Amino acid sequence: MTRSITEWVNVTNDVSIIARESGEVWFHTPSSSNLDPFATPMTGVGSPGSTIGLLDGAINLGFAAIEKRLARPELTIAAYIVALVGAYHTSVDTPRNLRRAASRFLELGRPEVAAYLEERAREETGHDRLALKDLRALGVLGERLVANFIPEGIKPLCKRFDDLCAEDYPIGSIGYSYCLERIAALKEKSDIEKVRTLCPEGVDATRFLRSHSSLGSEASHVEETITFVASLPAVDRISVVQATYQSALIMAEGYNHELLKSEKELLEEIRQAVGEALPYSRGPVPSGLDEVGARPVA
Ligand SMILES: [Fe+2]
Ligand SMILES: [Fe+2]
Repeated sequence: MTRSITEWVNVTNDVSIIARESGEVWFHTPSSSNLDPFATPMTGVGSPGSTIGLLDGAINLGFAAIEKRLARPELTIAAYIVALVGAYHTSVDTPRNLRRAASRFLELGRPEVAAYLEERAREETGHDRLALKDLRALGVLGERLVANFIPEGIKPLCKRFDDLCAEDYPIGSIGYSYCLERIAALKEKSDIEKVRTLCPEGVDATRFLRSHSSLGSEASHVEETITFVASLPAVDRISVVQATYQSALIMAEGYNHELLKSEKELLEEIRQAVGEALPYSRGPVPSGLDEVGARPVA
């Protein structure tokens, strides 16, 4: 009888994530006792069932750090515009960054990792244009807005990805991408509908959101990443899960920072960046958004 695969990764001093192929996941406090089977790093093979448990466990743990401070504002057009600016900045350098990491893996003699990253780079190409088109559809000078404005909470995210892709061994870039895409893939049709009700009559400003939701390509990107990560050696899977956790911490703080801004602050940020006020102003959407829908679009 073949034994079911169990994977584990220590992500903080006192928390390890343990996941079974069956889908069972739990958090564990490592002990120095010889009897703790999870005290030393895993060395075995992975499986999609246990790898997804580790990756999603890492995201949940990262977001749990801000759970009590989580902002749940009603979405407004100004907040959506700022979220699109964030989406632009988290997308614009992605293909270049991924290709940089891919060439490093080629140098390191890891063509399979390079091929995976190249493929991701191809898939992500042009996503910044979707955000720009959405901004233009909303009557905003998109190019000028993104050139003059990076939302404060988004800066650390962009920096994190730049840094991970520039590392000597840039495997952590996969953890960051997974985190971003997994969160996007949680968005459902109803989240897109809520944004539509906010947009002016006849305006489609949900191109980026649609493609970065359960309706777009994100769901398949997430699945492909899980299968790929599960095929990596244990030492790489450990690094990817640790980078996923670190990225989730940064994303949680960054998104929350943006969500905590008042409507007045958001409108002022936009006005300063484009040199004029928004062409129109609309109130909040009629119904409150749930936690996932209220998060930035990327
Ligand atoms: Fe994308
Ligand atoms: Fe994607």
